[in-house]
Amino acid sequence: MRKVEKPILEVLAGKKPSSTPLWLMRQAGRYLPEYRTLRTQAKNFLNFCLTPELAAEATLQPIRRFDLDAAILFADILLIPHALGQKLEFKEGEGPTLEPLMDNKSVTGLKFDISKLTPVFETIGKVKPALPEKTALIGFCGGPWTVAAYMIDGNSRDHFSHAKLWAENQPELLDQLLAMLVDASANYLCRQIEAGVEVLQIFESWAGLLENENFSRFVIKPTKELIKRVKQQHPKALIIGFPRAAGPRYRNYALETGVDCLSIDQHVSLDYARKELQAIKPLQGNLDPLLLAKGGEDMRHAAETILEKLGPSHIFNLGHGVVPETPPENVAQLAEIVRGWRA
Ligand code: CP3
Repeated sequence: MRKVEKPILEVLAGKKPSSTPLWLMRQAGRYLPEYRTLRTQAKNFLNFCLTPELAAEATLQPIRRFDLDAAILFADILLIPHALGQKLEFKEGEGPTLEPLMDNKSVTGLKFDISKLTPVFETIGKVKPALPEKTALIGFCGGPWTVAAYMIDGNSRDHFSHAKLWAENQPELLDQLLAMLVDASANYLCRQIEAGVEVLQIFESWAGLLENENFSRFVIKPTKELIKRVKQQHPKALIIGFPRAAGPRYRNYALETGVDCLSIDQHVSLDYARKELQAIKPLQGNLDPLLLAKGGEDMRHAAETILEKLGPSHIFNLGHGVVPETPPENVAQLAEIVRGWRA
């Protein structure tokens, strides 16, 4: 039997598939009623992520409902701090809270225990055989800087002012923390590949907080090292980088880190993306999540403009995650628009 080429893998290999592949960041989650029901079975969100039966089911829910080209492993970027021994809590309706790192001692006291993440690899083993032939499985981790920012501030309420202060006042300590995160994340991503994921995404959600030398030192350098380590073990690994809100710094990120694909947020203009970024790497993303939540003609128009300017050697996705207010029907409609598109 002929093997089906998965459209996402074709784009990542620099080919042009016959139609633009589609998946959505945060495609599993609270906007789906079946997710909210499943969620009540776990005592808290951390427990949910670390129960393979539940996490596998959450991964598969959007695949059953919509015609998507990839499933993303259901987990969270903050599982790494958890495995490093930092206290992590997801309080209902509040988002994550970590016990903030205070000083040198709180950094040197961390120790990575990958056995705490064993359930994640079991989830991958459960999801993989349940996927349709054309659907790729994406694994992920947070970008080192983004994870460090949560670890230092403990939450996002203060816009990561402590993390930004570390960058200015204690850059060596921040380097040390980032090196630890690179080590842990490389290990974690390699294990995800060995368990069966076919693509990796690095979510650098807070890349936009840094500029100039700080962006090079605390975003590009650790990401480059992370990708180097993963590719040393798995030379064929395919890695999507998402330095959200990096603005004019997307270009250097694409040139210097070694990513195979660049995921762009909704603030990057399409003409710039096509001329300056797509010339360097295949692209993913760009639809404003709020337009997906709104739906209708505004969503259709925006989606068609993206398809026209970037397709088909582009992975259709959002500029950030699906918001909880999104009507699932809008996702179904978006899938129809992307499927029906012919240049
Ligand atoms: O569908 C998917 O995308 C797969 C699973 C996934 C989750 N989080 C599940 C989740 C992925 C890839 C993430 C990544 C993640 N987690 C990021 C990077 C992407 C981004 O959104 O910027 C970040 C910054 C986190 C940290 C995190 N986890 C925050 C800030 C929050 C609270 C905000 C929120 O949406 O509730 C979470 C919780 C979280 N992670 C939920 C889900 C489905 C909601 C938890 C719930 O069910 O109550």
